[in-house]
Order: sequence, then C-alpha cells, then structure tokens
Amino acid sequence: MSEFKSVISTNILPIQISDIFNDYRNWNSCQAESEKYERVWEICAWVRDFRSQSEHAFISITDGSTSQILQVFCEKSTIPNFETLDNLRGATVRVKGLVKKSPAKGQEIEMVCQSIEPIGIVHDKNSIILAKNVQLETLRNHQHLRSRFRTFGYIYKIRSELLKHIHEFFHAQGFYNLDPNIITTSDCEGAGEVFTITTHNVNEIAELVETNCHDRFVEKDEASMSIGSLTNSDLYKEDFFQKQAFLTVSSQLQLEALCAGLSRVYTLNPSFRAEKSKTKRHLACFTHLEWEIAFIDINQLMDFSEALVKHVIGNTLKSCEYEYSELNKFVSKGIIDKLTNVVTNPFERITYDKAIELVEENKKAILKKFSKEITIKDIPKWGDDVGSYCERYIAEEIYKKPVLVYNYPSSLKSFYMKQNDDGKTCQSCDLLCPQLGELIGSSIREDSYEKLVNIMDERKMDKSLLEWYVELRRLGCAFSGGAGLGFDRLVNFCSLMDGNIRDVVPFPVSYQECDY
Ligand code: 4AD
Ligand code: MG
Repeated sequence: MSEFKSVISTNILPIQISDIFNDYRNWNSCQAESEKYERVWEICAWVRDFRSQSEHAFISITDGSTSQILQVFCEKSTIPNFETLDNLRGATVRVKGLVKKSPAKGQEIEMVCQSIEPIGIVHDKNSIILAKNVQLETLRNHQHLRSRFRTFGYIYKIRSELLKHIHEFFHAQGFYNLDPNIITTSDCEGAGEVFTITTHNVNEIAELVETNCHDRFVEKDEASMSIGSLTNSDLYKEDFFQKQAFLTVSSQLQLEALCAGLSRVYTLNPSFRAEKSKTKRHLACFTHLEWEIAFIDINQLMDFSEALVKHVIGNTLKSCEYEYSELNKFVSKGIIDKLTNVVTNPFERITYDKAIELVEENKKAILKKFSKEITIKDIPKWGDDVGSYCERYIAEEIYKKPVLVYNYPSSLKSFYMKQNDDGKTCQSCDLLCPQLGELIGSSIREDSYEKLVNIMDERKMDKSLLEWYVELRRLGCAFSGGAGLGFDRLVNFCSLMDGNIRDVVPFPVSYQECDY
C-alpha cells in the first residue's frame, strides 16, 4: 500500500473556470506587483449574459465550478464570427483566450477572446432560459432548466456544502455512515402514510379483488386492511416479496439495530411519505438525515442536535461566503443575519407544557399573525399537537431563534419513544425554527421490553412485522436515542427567507406533483 498515490489533488478532468481563478490567485499570491498574469486558456462553458457594442462584445460565461462568472472580451477586429455572436445567447461554447487581470471594478480577471465557437446554441429564442429576473415560482414549472440560473447555482452550492459539513461533523464524532434498506415491511412512524411497493399491475389487483369479493361494493375495512373477504396477505402473497412492502418513512428502526453494536450511526437515506399535503414544507420524497446514538440521555441528545445544526450552518456560511453575499442582496434579504443569529446564540429549551402555556398567553397575537391560516379552533390545549403556526410563533416571535421543545405527551408521538415516569409524557424533543417550524424530531427510545410491547398492544400494532425490533430489547439491550432532520427543510432554511421547499430540491416530488 505504501506505493499507492492518490490522484485526488491532480487535475484529471477538463479545465473549469474555477481552475483559471485558482491559477490566477496562486500566481498572484507569490508574484511582485510589477509582473503581469497573462496565460492562454481554452474551456467549455455556458453563456450567461451577452452585451455588445459596435466594435466589441462582453460575454459572461459560467460552468458551475464557481458562482463567479468569467467575462470574455471580444473585439470585432480579431474575432472572425463577431457578427454572429448575438446568436450565442444561452449557448454552450468553446472559448479560447488570454486571461489577465481585469481593469473593471469588482472583477478579478477577464479573458481576451481569441476564438469562440458554439457547441450547442439555443434553438428556441423564446425559451425561459434566455429570460432575465425570473421568479423562483415560475421556474418550478421548468425544473430541468433550473441549474442554468444564477440563484439555483447559489442554492445548489449551499445544499452541497451543507451535506459536506454534515458528513464532516458525523465522521469527526466517530459515526458510521450506513444506509439501511429503503424497501421495508415496517411503517416506523405508524401514521399509515406509506407508499406500497408492488409488481402487480392494476388489472391483476382488480382481478384478485373481483374473485375474492362476494360483494364488489363492500367497503374497504381500514382496521383489518381487507377488501371484502380479501385480506392484505391474500393480495400480496403472489407479489414480489410475497407480502406487502413499502417505501420507508424512516430508517430509524434499522439504525437502532445497527447502533446496538456500533454505538453511533447515521444515514442520509431518502424517506417517503404519502401525506396529502401541499404546504411549503412537505415533500412525498425527502432526504432524511437520521442518527442514532447509544448510551445517551435527552439532554445530551439536545446538545448534539444544537451542535450539529450550528456546525453545519456556521461552516456553510463561511464556505459559501460569495453565494450568501449575492443571495442577501435580492432573493433572500436578511439571510446572513438570520443564520448568524442561529450559530451565535444558545437555542431555547422549553417543555411541551411551557409551549402550551405560551400559546395560551399569546393566542390573540397568534390569531392576528396567522389570521388567514388558522382560527381559534386551532389553538391547542394540553394533549393537542402544537401545530405548525403556533410552533412558528414560538420560535419566530417569542424567542426569535431555534427552540427545542421536549417532553411531549406520549399520545402525540410514535410508539418507540421512552415513557417518562409521569405516565403521560415521553422523552421526545422537536427542534422548531423561525419561519420554518419543525426541523428535527428526536427521542430517547423505549428500552423496556414490557413497556414497548404494552404500547404496541394499546395501539393495536401488528407485532409480527416488528418481531426483530422488539427482540433487540431482550438481547443485551442498550439504551439509545436518535433523531431525524429533514435535510430539504434545512436547505430551505439556509437559502431562503420563508421559502418554499420546492425551490431547494433538484426535482421535488410531492402530493399531486411528480413530473420528472
Ligand atoms: O418527525 P419525524 O416524522 O421523525 C421520524 O421520522 C423519526 N423516525 C426520526 C428519527 O428519530 N430517526 O421526521 C423527522 C424530520 C421532521 O422533523 C422534518 O424535518 C422532516 O423529517 N420531515 C419532512 N420533510 C419534508 N417533507 C415531509 N413530508 C417530511 N416529514 C418529515
Ligand atoms: Mg415529527
């Protein structure tokens, strides 16, 4: 192995604009003022902007390697195809020229063009790709073209950097990155919002239903999951897995099994939820960052969530300095202050009881702020879900920062959460953020075999599907805690002010929306 040399720091791929900027910066950092940087480069890129005057033209090109554009200066006297340059708006081009320090303000370098040729031109001159100042909302109908727009360059860079800092944080804390199965037989959250996986086609299912139902119009019985005399297992016994299987809603249960031996595990698996929700924060398929930690208590779990969010946002603010300075000007005014506030102040920690008290005390103001969205009926009492608008009010108006709410009533939460001794609440904690609402859902897991089985019975859960999970409690059970963070919600929070999740996901899929 000692002879192995990685090529990681060698340039083995085509030259990009960032290579040119880096070359200039390296050169600049070790040269005397009087020396001139003049190097010829040839690259392929996309035309972002085009301005022409009678004797010369300025073409801004970009290739995604950096959010900065490279300005190409074209002179009529030296460019044979000068008259046809206008045709290159939005085109993919191959450009060759002399790169030098730019005389223009706010621009480090420019290229004096020697040749520019189209690789692919934009054939439809009315295409949105040539439009200026397009709203994010409009571009939701053109998702395959979004990567060509400046704002999406910034958002996707932030998304990618957030991921990098997430991996960095977990690896620094000694976690294994393991991705459990996405096709599963268990509905972890028990909310019944699962997508079933089947290789049956509609006709086969209809035939099965027809031959098995005495009365074709018998109501579907939700509780026993049967249609007429046809049970769930009849329906799926000829299917691919010979039983009903789903797309996972959470990888938590499998992570718990891995944690019970490895101590610290995390995944960035997607989760799938058939929630018929068209809000700005719900997707049917989302990137779900989940972690599971052995031998941890609820306070340490909250410390961990806070440290993770701060590390990831703080480092992304640094590594995307240019992108943030641009977003802060127009698209997301105030984003830098918002995120700096998150990373520099301690998060608030309150119990669910306190959250309900605060809602009661502030109900008039809450109803005023969200008068279009909620009415007095939506103001929660003890035992009710706090609700996304009241959650937002607490984080946005009362504390003006992220708030960790813990000890929710057990009845509101999933079966696997550890019961508190009061017999009413469980060791759960949600992280609520201003403008966004819930970002993280977490809990300590119930480690008592008896309590776990009791609660599953109370909720009439089919234990046969989770025998393996229950068994973990009887085989040298370790107590653990963990969490799930909606990564797309984090990206939304970190790139936009009160934004829509659809604008930060490359190809969002949600209720009644699946177009790619
Ligand atoms: O609160 P949730 O449902 O918790 C779980 O799934 C746990 N099993 C996680 C765990 O402990 N391993 O989901 C966790 C987070 C939410 O706080 C939210 O940020 C995000 O996942 N989330 C969604 N994001 C986008 N679209 C949806 N439909 C989402 N549902 C949940
Ligand atoms: Mg939740």
